[in-house]
Amino acid sequence: MKTIIEPFKIKVVEPIRMTTREERFEYLKAAGYNVFKLRSDDVLIDLLTDSGTSAMSSQQWAGVMRGDEAYAGSPSFFRFEDAVQDIFGFDHVIPTHQGRAAERILFSTVCQPGHVVPNNTHFDTTRANIEASGAKAVDLPVPEGLVPSDPRPFKGNMDVEKLKALISEVGAGAIPLCMLTITNNTGGGQPVSMKNIREVSEVCRGKGIPLYIDACRFAENAYFIKLREEGYQDMDVKEIVQEIFSHADGCTMSAKKDGLANIGGFLATNDERLARREKDLLILTEGYPTYGGMAGRDLEAIAVGLKEVLQEDYLEYRLASVRYLGEHISAEGVPIVQPPGGHAVYIDAAAFLPHVEPSDLPGQSIVVELYVEGGIRGVEVGTVMFGRQDPDTGEEIPAAMELVRLAMPRRVYTQSHVDYLVEVIVAVYRRRNAVGGFRFAYQAPALRHFTAEFEPLYDVGS
Ligand SMILES: Cc1ncc(COP(=O)(O)O)c(C=O)c1O
Repeated sequence: MKTIIEPFKIKVVEPIRMTTREERFEYLKAAGYNVFKLRSDDVLIDLLTDSGTSAMSSQQWAGVMRGDEAYAGSPSFFRFEDAVQDIFGFDHVIPTHQGRAAERILFSTVCQPGHVVPNNTHFDTTRANIEASGAKAVDLPVPEGLVPSDPRPFKGNMDVEKLKALISEVGAGAIPLCMLTITNNTGGGQPVSMKNIREVSEVCRGKGIPLYIDACRFAENAYFIKLREEGYQDMDVKEIVQEIFSHADGCTMSAKKDGLANIGGFLATNDERLARREKDLLILTEGYPTYGGMAGRDLEAIAVGLKEVLQEDYLEYRLASVRYLGEHISAEGVPIVQPPGGHAVYIDAAAFLPHVEPSDLPGQSIVVELYVEGGIRGVEVGTVMFGRQDPDTGEEIPAAMELVRLAMPRRVYTQSHVDYLVEVIVAVYRRRNAVGGFRFAYQAPALRHFTAEFEPLYDVGS
């Protein structure tokens, strides 16, 4: 059959509520035009993030009931640990309440001022946690990763020559670890090829630099390898995942993505001495090492989710549903990062609103207009999220790309929701010439996109 269907049926439903255009104007104004500050009840289709928003399966809910809440030595932990070790192959598994807690424990253990951490592209919390330790986070994406219209298959790759040059420049001793984010969220949800993972690993191992993988979307990345990279078509996704992680020395993971869970994460390593230091810190801030920051029921949900996410009918549907949205808006002329990513479609805001300067935050305008038009919540991934203010002049230093991310929660929306999305996005695109820019009315010194407030420089919704 040509039609790729949702490989599940629905047992529990959650109503969503349409608001009027007038109501949405009011909600936006009260939120300082920052969609993070909206109440989710006032959002019809919520594409703010794919993180922690998955629908859990009946097996996961059964796991929730099985959860054992013993403080130490819970069987739920051992089921979680077995699932992680079986898939990722690392000796030491440290549970955390979400991905950034794993990042904080890792970086505050291995990084110090003067250190440099390369990555294909750091996610915002990864960068912030590295910088909080006094080290510097350096992005080394391949050049095509910064060209939204370039349709190459592995635009999430790291530029290996730039990695070698960085090591020569700062010295291997200043690089406590190298990271690879799969898929590359900030770079458009684009996958990293096995060839690139292997090459980066060889460079790192040659210099004694541990390679860590930010594993949030490991299954989506592995399925892209199966579909796009020669030699992997006949391999099981799980075997591909195992090969990926055989090239690494550890990983950080937010189970809120490809763990198909609503909360949780972990840090893993093969280095016993390091694991001991990390567990000491874990006890200080997260909890005892057999639960970390999670309840026993969360550990169970993740143990099941990690297995379900590797099912190929699920992955086929997952990538097809994101591609469906990308291809349909693209066919109507909406510029997006090509090819569509694994967990999200990224609108190229700079090409969508070429008349709005990056310093006037074009992505922010599109986010606001999608909410006004149809109650859709996306997120700006451009100058608001990754730019910064020049401390001397107060001018905005723009990000490398101006994107709007429409992240698809896993197993939540159906094809008719996506058809509605297409209609709304295309309607905003058709009236794009009347859309102007925004400026900051308030911004915090770090991770400013979460709490910022904005002022429109045009008549919103016109
Ligand atoms: C690539 C990547 N790394 C790390 C994180 C942080 O994970 P968490 O939100 O669970 O702290 C995220 C979350 O979106 C992510 O996308």
